[in-house]
Amino acid sequence: MNMPISARQQFAADLHAALSRRPRSISPKYFYDEIGSHLFEQICELPEYYPTRTELALLQRHAREMADCIGPRAQLVEYGAGALRKVRLLLDKLERPHSFVPVDISGTHLLAACAELAQDHPALAITPVVADFTQPHDLPARPADGRRVGFFPGSSIGNFTPAEAQDFLAMAAQELRGGGLLIGIDLVKDPAVLHAAYNDAAGVTAAFNLNLLERARRELGAEFEPDGFSHSAFYNAPQQRIEMHLLSRRRQHLTLGGSVYEFAAGETLHTEHSHKYSIAGFQALAAKAGFSAGPAWTDEREWFALLWLRSPT
Ligand code: AVI
Repeated sequence: MNMPISARQQFAADLHAALSRRPRSISPKYFYDEIGSHLFEQICELPEYYPTRTELALLQRHAREMADCIGPRAQLVEYGAGALRKVRLLLDKLERPHSFVPVDISGTHLLAACAELAQDHPALAITPVVADFTQPHDLPARPADGRRVGFFPGSSIGNFTPAEAQDFLAMAAQELRGGGLLIGIDLVKDPAVLHAAYNDAAGVTAAFNLNLLERARRELGAEFEPDGFSHSAFYNAPQQRIEMHLLSRRRQHLTLGGSVYEFAAGETLHTEHSHKYSIAGFQALAAKAGFSAGPAWTDEREWFALLWLRSPT
């Protein structure tokens, strides 16, 4: 009989695979252990990291118009729900919402955030779903008298490869049939602004990136030289994305579970893509999945946007 594979075994298997392929790359989901999630919260407060505060300001300014697009009696499904800070701004303006369905892989955090939300919205039906929303999952039945609408803030779709983004949009178009999707995207802009956002002066993004290897040391007993790797983040203009890498500062060996992996000086482990889009470019991508473009809200500098996309019927 096949035993279910634990999260730690999965991390070990994915890290072995990442270290064995060329170029070396691993999913950014491994950033988010307890320490990594805390570092990400700190990133969101950094002066250089504009996406969080820009998106919050857009929600504050336009939540009423967004609620009008969503309509009455909606079942609001939040993908990758986290701390539920942003959705509160929307929930305040929704007309008689049917229910709120946050979907997140981290059960403990999700349930804690839902308990807090329930205190402020005692009349709201909250049905958390602990699941990886990129994989097939079940949702509670859709309302008989309202629509199912998705909410995917934070520009997290930028961390998907274009193929993964397309898969997510195709899945969402089916799951949200007859409703819509409100999604946050980070826009293409001056590379200097992007560079600063991913190379902050306080070094928090560097710590966030390096935590992936520290996590491998803590959880899997990986061995590598102290100070052997450095944070590298740069804008790849042709691909319209920030790339984050862990860069080997010298020739060295990394040992993981009895396997020895050699790194040349300057060789990297690619840890994250953060794709930047134009509004029209993203709407075109969503159209391939069957969504039609509705209103888009952006800030004066056009650094970030929230898009309303109508699902196919
Ligand atoms: C979660 N995600 C949208 C962040 C981003 O900007 O791509 C993750 C991040 N990586 C470095 N800084 C923030």
